[in-house]
Amino acid sequence: MMSKVLFSMVILLSSVRHTGGDQVTCVFSEDCIVPCRFQPGSDEVIHWVKLEDQDLPVHSYYYNTDHLEQQNQSYKQRTALFNAQISKGNASLLLRDVTIQDKGRYKCYSSTMNGNKESFIDIALNAPVRWLDIQLSDDKSMVTCSSTNIYPEPKLTWSSKPPFDFYPGNINISTNIKGLYNIISSKQLIKNQTNICTVSSGTINKTASLRLEAPVNSSSSSLVTILCRVPHFDLMTFDLTWMFNHTVPILTSTYTNSTPQMHVEYRWKKNVQGVSESRSLQLQRLTKDHQGTYSCKISTARETHLVLTSLDFTSDAAAVKSSPSPVAAAVAPSPSAVAAAVVFIYCKYNFSPY
Ligand SMILES: *[C@@H]1O[C@H](CO)[C@@H](O)[C@H](O)[C@H]1NC(C)=O
Ligand SMILES: *[C@@H]1O[C@H](CO)[C@@H](O)[C@H](O)[C@H]1NC(C)=O
Ligand SMILES: *[C@@H]1O[C@H](CO)[C@@H](O)[C@H](O)[C@H]1NC(C)=O
Ligand SMILES: *[C@@H]1O[C@H](CO)[C@@H](O)[C@H](O)[C@H]1NC(C)=O
Ligand SMILES: *[C@@H]1O[C@H](CO)[C@@H](O)[C@H](O)[C@H]1NC(C)=O
Ligand SMILES: *[C@@H]1O[C@H](CO)[C@@H](O)[C@H](O)[C@H]1NC(C)=O
Ligand SMILES: *[C@@H]1O[C@H](CO)[C@@H](O)[C@H](O)[C@H]1NC(C)=O
Repeated sequence: MMSKVLFSMVILLSSVRHTGGDQVTCVFSEDCIVPCRFQPGSDEVIHWVKLEDQDLPVHSYYYNTDHLEQQNQSYKQRTALFNAQISKGNASLLLRDVTIQDKGRYKCYSSTMNGNKESFIDIALNAPVRWLDIQLSDDKSMVTCSSTNIYPEPKLTWSSKPPFDFYPGNINISTNIKGLYNIISSKQLIKNQTNICTVSSGTINKTASLRLEAPVNSSSSSLVTILCRVPHFDLMTFDLTWMFNHTVPILTSTYTNSTPQMHVEYRWKKNVQGVSESRSLQLQRLTKDHQGTYSCKISTARETHLVLTSLDFTSDAAAVKSSPSPVAAAVAPSPSAVAAAVVFIYCKYNFSPY
C-alpha cells in the first residue's frame, strides 16, 4: 500500500515537471473530446480533474460506473466518458457545450490492477469569427463593422479598393458576459470606393465590404440597371441577395460553380427583368413606391460584400407639377404623361407580367 502511494507520488511529481503534455483546442459552445489513454486492465478507476488553485472534480468513474457526487457544479450534465471504450484503455472525456471557463489544465488519472497513470492535457479555447456585420449610417457618412462572441482577442483592420489613405477609425473591444470578445469600429465612408473591414482571431479571419454607388434615376417607362460592383471578383460559389430598403427581399440566388439558381419574390416578379452575368439587377415598370435603397449582398463563408444604390423616381408627372397651370395640364396632358399613366395602370392592374 505504502509503495503504491509512493509510486503514484513519484509519477505525479515527474508528470508535473513535464509541463508540455497534450493540448486540445475546443470550440466555444460545441462538444469537445479531451483525449486520454491508459494500459487496459481490470478494476478501472478514472478521475478527471481541472487543475486550479483548488482542483475541481470534473468526472469520476469506478466500480464500472460514473460517480458524479463530487463533480463541480459548472460541469453538471456536460461530461461523459466513452464507457464502451474504457476496457480498451480509452479514458477520453466528452465535454459538451464548452464555455470559456473550461479553458485550462486538466489531469486524467487512471488506475487498474496493472498500475496507474496520470496524464495532463491543456484545453485551449477558440470562438472563431462567425460573421461580420457592416452597415452604413443613416446620413451615409460612416461605415460600421462589428462582430461578437470571439476568442482569442480579435484584430480589426480597414482597407479600401482602390487603396486610399484614410483615418482608420476607433476600434472598440469589450468582453461580454460569456468572457468572449465583442468588437466594433466605425470610420468615415469613402465614396466611390469599396470600404473593407477584416476581423481576425487566431488563424481565422472574415472580411466584409461596403460600397455606396451614385444614385440612379428612373422613370416609369425606363429600364433600370443597378450595379453590384465587387473588386477582384473571382468567386464562383456564393449567395447573392438583392434587398429593397434594407429589409424587403427582392430576390435570392445561389451560385454553384457560377451557375445561378434564382428565386424572385412574388411581389417583385413583374419588376425584375433579370440579373446580368455581373450580378446587376435589371428592373422595369417601376413606380414611385420603388423609390428607396437597393442593396446587393454577396456572401460566402469568409466574405460579405454589400453594395448600396439609392433609386430616385423621376416620374414624368413631375413635368405636370412644374407646369404653371396644373388645370391646363390636366385638361391637355402631355403625351409622355399619358404614356406614364398607361404604364402605371398596366402595372397596377395587370398582375400577369407577360
Ligand atoms: C475514445 O473513444 C472515442 C469514442 O469512440 C473516440 O472518439 C476517441 O478518439 C477515443 N480516444 C482515444 C484516445 O482513443
Ligand atoms: C466549482 O468551481 C468553481 C470555480 O470554478 C468554484 O467557485 C465553486 O465553488 C465550485 N463548486 C463547488 C461545489 O465546489
Ligand atoms: C467606442 O468607444 C468610444 C468611447 O467609449 C465611443 O465614444 C464610441 O462611440 C465607440 N465606437 C463605436 C463604434 O461604438
Ligand atoms: C464617383 O465616380 C464617378 C464616376 O466614376 C464620378 O462621376 C463621381 O464624380 C465620383 N464621385 C465622387 C464623390 O468621387
Ligand atoms: C485571412 O485568411 C486567409 C486564409 O484563410 C489568408 O490567406 C489571409 O492572409 C488572411 N488575411 C488576414 C488579413 O489575416
Ligand atoms: C437624376 O436626376 C436629378 C434631378 O432630378 C439630376 O440632378 C441628376 O443629375 C440625375 N442623375 C443622373 C445619373 O441622371
Ligand atoms: C424606402 O426608403 C425610402 C428612403 O428612406 C423611403 O422614402 C420610402 O418610403 C421607403 N419605401 C417603402 C416602400 O418603404
